[in-house]
Amino acid sequence: MDRIRIVGGAKLNGTIPISGAKNAALPLMIASLLTPETLVLENVPRLSDVRMLKRILGNHGVDVMVAGKRVGERDDDGETVKLNAGAIVDTTAPYELVSQMRASFWVIAPLLARMGEAKVSLPGGCAIGTRPVDFLLMALEKLGAEIEIDRGYVLAKAKNGLKGGEIDFPKVTVGGTHTALMAAVLAQGTSVIRNAAREPEVGDLARCLVKMGAKISGIDSSTLEVVGVGSLHGAQHRVLPDRIEAGTYAFAAAMAGGDVTLTDVQPILLQSALDRLAESGATVTSDVNSIRIQRNGNGIAPVSLETEAFPGFPTDLQAQFMALMTKANGTARITETIFENRFMHVQELARFGAKIRLDGDTAIVEGTPVLKGAPVMATDLRASVSLVIAALAAEGETMINRVYHLDRGFEQLEAKLQRCGAEVERIRA
Ligand code: UD1
Repeated sequence: MDRIRIVGGAKLNGTIPISGAKNAALPLMIASLLTPETLVLENVPRLSDVRMLKRILGNHGVDVMVAGKRVGERDDDGETVKLNAGAIVDTTAPYELVSQMRASFWVIAPLLARMGEAKVSLPGGCAIGTRPVDFLLMALEKLGAEIEIDRGYVLAKAKNGLKGGEIDFPKVTVGGTHTALMAAVLAQGTSVIRNAAREPEVGDLARCLVKMGAKISGIDSSTLEVVGVGSLHGAQHRVLPDRIEAGTYAFAAAMAGGDVTLTDVQPILLQSALDRLAESGATVTSDVNSIRIQRNGNGIAPVSLETEAFPGFPTDLQAQFMALMTKANGTARITETIFENRFMHVQELARFGAKIRLDGDTAIVEGTPVLKGAPVMATDLRASVSLVIAALAAEGETMINRVYHLDRGFEQLEAKLQRCGAEVERIRA
């Protein structure tokens, strides 16, 4: 297994282009199952989760074609992926594939909407909590699906097609909203989705569905109204920038010190994270599609926060912000409200000498002036990149093991950091 070696201490100076959002690319690719015509997605990040989903969709009969590089395209431009689900050959998503990536469970909605049936493996446990799918199944039932669980599989049926219905989510759920939207667009009649997730990736999916012929109103709000249509057609859509990748590099720049500009980004998508970063003492200036982070000389102030659904501070940046707070001049309290067990990074950050105590859903982080490099292990996607942030500011060498978690969500991580002066290299197994 590959490892990443980082020697801390170098300031970061330069420009980092931000890739397309993984969490938007995945549902957008899944939406290709809704139409027999071709869906063209631009700015798709080159990540192992995306490769995995190409395999899963291929299993259902989707033809996946990656367009060659065009003149003038940069190495770090995302891929253009053409997906054609002309014939769906299999409505089963097997355990071997779904267990590797939770989001692949969402294929249940378009398969059911278009084919009237789907058999999808339950995704199973995950390092950051139980993550059930009860809200997703409730949404499908409200649209008239019959659901049965049999030997680890969800069997969903809608013999005469799905019917419009009212879905009221008891808790904001991104996957639930994606699922409800993809099912409702082909249902007969009108559906209303209340307490819908307002995460930008949900808006991106909705906008793409509208280009495909869907009738959706209330996009970006917590109430979505969908008037079902008989069929959808092909479309072309550019995946929105990855706000989590952008926030991660913004925190990394503040941690290491220096002057970094993030490009191809939409600052408005991560305003709460940028506000907390500015409170911590970094100078943050943004333009329509770039963000500049400067921290020269001054220390890091402690900032307490809690994670919230969008537009609040995202749970997917909690570990990275905690890494930054390990070097603050004081104590910060970080409360996780979205997932019940998302503190796997705490014990690894402690290996750098960080002082963190857990009290229920809150981590109390007592800043320390010196972190020391150590061998550490990546446990999940966002936790693993928090170790990179700590390593950039730690004295000496850090070796990060099990970096396949990083490859699931961060495109060209080493190259992007190296270009800004970080001492980081991948050691291939
Ligand atoms: C998505 C993101 C993930 C992010 C999360 C919250 C993708 C691929 N993943 O995950 O990176 O951390 O949103 O912003 O986009 N829940 C239930 N029952 C359900 C569904 C969810 O109880 O049926 C709970 C979850 O356990 C969790 C909360 O609802 O506590 C929110 O989860 P959800 O928004 O659904 O997360 P995902 O869509 O899985």
